[in-house]
Amino acid sequence: MAKHHKKPPGIEAIADIWPSQQPGKSVALLKALHILTREGALNADSRRKLKQVLHLTQLLRPSLEALQTGPDEPVLADLGAGKSYLGFLLHELVLGPAGRGRLVSVEVRTELIEASRALATDLGIERMEFIASSIAEATAAGGRVDMVAALHACDTATDDAIRFGLRHEAKVIALVPCCQAEVAQLLKSQEGPLHQLWRHPIQRRELGAHITNVIRGLVLEAHGYKVRVTELTGLEHSLKNELILAERHQRSNAQAKSELDRLIDQIGVRPALLDVMA
Ligand SMILES: C[S@@+](CC[C@H](N)C(=O)[O-])C[C@H]1O[C@@H](n2cnc3c(N)ncnc32)[C@H](O)[C@@H]1O
Repeated sequence: MAKHHKKPPGIEAIADIWPSQQPGKSVALLKALHILTREGALNADSRRKLKQVLHLTQLLRPSLEALQTGPDEPVLADLGAGKSYLGFLLHELVLGPAGRGRLVSVEVRTELIEASRALATDLGIERMEFIASSIAEATAAGGRVDMVAALHACDTATDDAIRFGLRHEAKVIALVPCCQAEVAQLLKSQEGPLHQLWRHPIQRRELGAHITNVIRGLVLEAHGYKVRVTELTGLEHSLKNELILAERHQRSNAQAKSELDRLIDQIGVRPALLDVMA
């Protein structure tokens, strides 16, 4: 009779969503991150978060693999990192197996950075660096970052991530924006032929978020990035689901700049991010 091998707790919980052949290897990390419980269970909230982070990791993998072929060790930055789930999983699934590359986590909440740093030390991870700072004030050691990711960085922190990416001349910038209030607020006092589009607060919020992301895409295009905008995962996993993935392929793009200028003229609002166009 065939022997029944009981799998250690945890593997069953993640086997169907884990992208590598060896989910068992990562169970300890997922428990340490409290994504899996001590008993190896995955609750609905953690499952949603894990799916988003894994999906983003997989979407970034081709760009990361391309960066790995360059002469310099790639440097990644996870901005508004929270508990650094994205950083730890990028390390676990991509940088660790490649044996090359560094990851910098930037998070304004010092206690989260201290906990992540302690966890990295416990796990013997040496190629992750943790900076307790606002994104606006953070600078990566050496001043070079190849890839910037900002997953649900609140409101205008996503714009700070764009500024950080431009300041460090990042080759890839991946943004999954969170809530946005700035443009909705600017629209409130904006009259003009289109004002019916933002008369009601809920529509103003939605339209404000949409306009913000359109402007972010055009700003990146004007700086020479090729921009793709897609869904990150199904809406059942998160309502904040728009991925703006930008890869630099030229120094600047005058046509995108004039499209941006035209849009700003038509809508009549000027979010602070336009300072990077000066
Ligand atoms: C919604 S959480 C997302 C965390 C993480 N990226 C994730 O997806 O699990 C947003 C995080 O961004 C941090 N944050 C917000 N504004 C920031 C800023 N200007 N600079 C650095 N961190 C910021 C918050 O403290 C919070 O931990």
